[in-house]
Parts: sequence; structure tokens; C-alpha cells
Amino acid sequence: MRKHIKKWAGIAVLLASTQAQAQTPYTDDATYRGLGAKAGIDRIVHTLIPLIQADARISESFQDSDMLQLAERLAEQLCEFSGGPCKYTGKYKGKDMESVHIDLKISNAQFNALAEDLQIAMERNGIAAAVQNKLIAKLAPMQRAIVTR
Ligand code: HEM
Repeated sequence: MRKHIKKWAGIAVLLASTQAQAQTPYTDDATYRGLGAKAGIDRIVHTLIPLIQADARISESFQDSDMLQLAERLAEQLCEFSGGPCKYTGKYKGKDMESVHIDLKISNAQFNALAEDLQIAMERNGIAAAVQNKLIAKLAPMQRAIVTR
């Protein structure tokens, strides 16, 4: 019995720490460097924006958005989340991705579509597969906040 309790306590701690980790940027900057630092991230976002605008699965959501501002904020966020020295300065301070996206009624399929476009953008900029996966894994927990339909 004691053994059982210990095991479950261990799993709970693991889950809690995974969740805490999911909300926070990396503590080392290996992924940031793998993305090519600030200039590399800017190139990725620069490739990503037209992909989003041409993607029939999600383009409509962005019709009324200031894409220049979005690009800037997204670059900040990707930099921060990959362990770089930036701070997301968006209107919702990055913590509350739910508020940013709630009115858009985003589906799982749309979330995956954007993640796919991001992967294509990284691929086109020669980012190593392992680094791509690290960034996607870091963003994946945001799905809970962003998907509301
Ligand atoms: C990994 C997934 C995603 C991340 C990391 C992300 C991140 C962001 C960030 C950082 C902003 C800028 C907020 C600000 O101005 O401070 C933003 C805005 C926005 N996002 Fe997302 N997003 C994601 C998924 C999506 C999806 C799937 C859609 C729609 C299909 C979407 C639609 C939008 C729109 C339309 C805006 C602009 C809102 C406005 O004009 O105020 N996002 N997102």
C-alpha cells in the first residue's frame, strides 16, 4: 500500500512539474540558438506570415489583424519561449493567450494547421528537425488556451 501511495505521489509531482514547465520558457537557450537566434526567428516569422495568409484553413481569422504587429509579437514570444533574451510585450503579456484568441473560436484542426505552417516555415529556413520538435512541443500546451471550439 505504501508503495502504491509513493508511486501515485511520484506521478502527481511529475505531472505538476510538466505542467509548470509547459507554461514557462526554457531555462537554457539551446533551442533559441538552434532557431538562429533573433535574426533566425525573424526570418521564420517572415516566412510564416504569408503561409498563414495563404492557408484557407485559417486565413479568415487574420483578416482584420495588423499582421506587422502580430509578426513582431510572435517573434518576441517565440524568442522568449525558446530560451532567448526577449520578452513578449503583447497586450496580454503573453500569459493570457486565451484572451487573445477567445473571440476567434479556434478549432483543433486550425491550431494544428498553424503549427504545420510554422513547421514548414522552420523547414524552409533550414532548422534542424530536433529543434523544430522542441519548439512545437513547447507551444503544444497552449492548445488548451487557444482552442475554444
Ligand atoms: C501555437 C499556436 C499559436 C501561438 C503561439 C499564437 C500566438 C499569438 C500571439 C503571440 C499573438 C499576438 C497577441 C498580441 O497582439 O499581443 C497572436 C494573435 C493572434 N492569433 Fe495566435 N497563436 C497561435 C495560434 C493561433 C491560431 C490557430 C489562430 C487562428 C486560426 C490564431 C489567430 C490569431 C489572431 C487572428 C491574432 C490577432 C489578434 C488581434 O488582432 O488582436 N492564433 N497569436
